Amino acid sequence: MLRLENVSAGYGSFQALFDVSLEVNGGESVAVIGPNGAGKTTLLRVISKLLPASAGTVSMEGWPLNDVPAHQVIARGIAQVPENRRLFPKLTVEENLKMGGFLAAARARYAERLEFVYSLFPRMKERRAQAAGTLSGGEQQMCAIGRALMSGPKLLLLDEPSAGLAPVVVQAIFGLIRRICAEGYTVLIVEQNIRQVLKVVDRAYLLETGRIKTSGAAATLLASDEIRKAYLGL
Ligand SMILES: Nc1ncnc2c1ncn2[C@@H]1O[C@H](COP(=O)(O)OP(=O)(O)OP(=O)(O)O)[C@@H](O)[C@H]1O
Ligand SMILES: [Mg+2]
Repeated sequence: MLRLENVSAGYGSFQALFDVSLEVNGGESVAVIGPNGAGKTTLLRVISKLLPASAGTVSMEGWPLNDVPAHQVIARGIAQVPENRRLFPKLTVEENLKMGGFLAAARARYAERLEFVYSLFPRMKERRAQAAGTLSGGEQQMCAIGRALMSGPKLLLLDEPSAGLAPVVVQAIFGLIRRICAEGYTVLIVEQNIRQVLKVVDRAYLLETGRIKTSGAAATLLASDEIRKAYLGL
């Protein structure tokens, strides 16, 4: 579904990604794991066209995204949940969800999708009239994921959904992501919470200082000496 071939990118003279190739197949959940500053957010920015690649190609369902502007990426079926959620704090939960369904194609199915989001996150239904800025951290993450789902994406991109949340809330959010995958969505998550995310996804790529170091089935990586020693402190 999504394919990156030899993608490089950076900021001015600073190169943040080197020759990154990866693939996400339909129905799969894939993680890009790596420490602070590895280039995970940069990678998602390149996929959503917020940052141009200096080399290489990104394609969605076989079509290169080279000439697709950022505001049309969502029409290609890619929705991103940004780092730090980026909700509209003064708007209510339901108004935030509505913002995710603004495309004409999505508007026709607004009621149905809202129902689906509320069935995934009953807490959002309870809080639908509350200002998003007053939600707890975990609730804000649910609202941000729900907003992305409102566009009916084929591919959901998640930037560190566990960031800043207490361990028990992290568990809950990953449980919800597992459900979203079970619903048939294709998911690409970037995370530094390596242990938890490897329990949720099918496959993962390890990104270190802008380069893919290794990749494989999540269970294999979780058991690998390289990952255990460097990242899990075992
Ligand atoms: N706008 C920018 N201008 C210059 N350098 C940047 C910019 N954004 C990120 N960088 C640099 O690019 C590198 C990769 O950053 P990126 O945000 O992609 O890392 P990350 O893996 O998402 O880290 P974290 O887990 O902390 O979110 C870092 O060295 C960072 O300082
Ligand atoms: Mg980041």
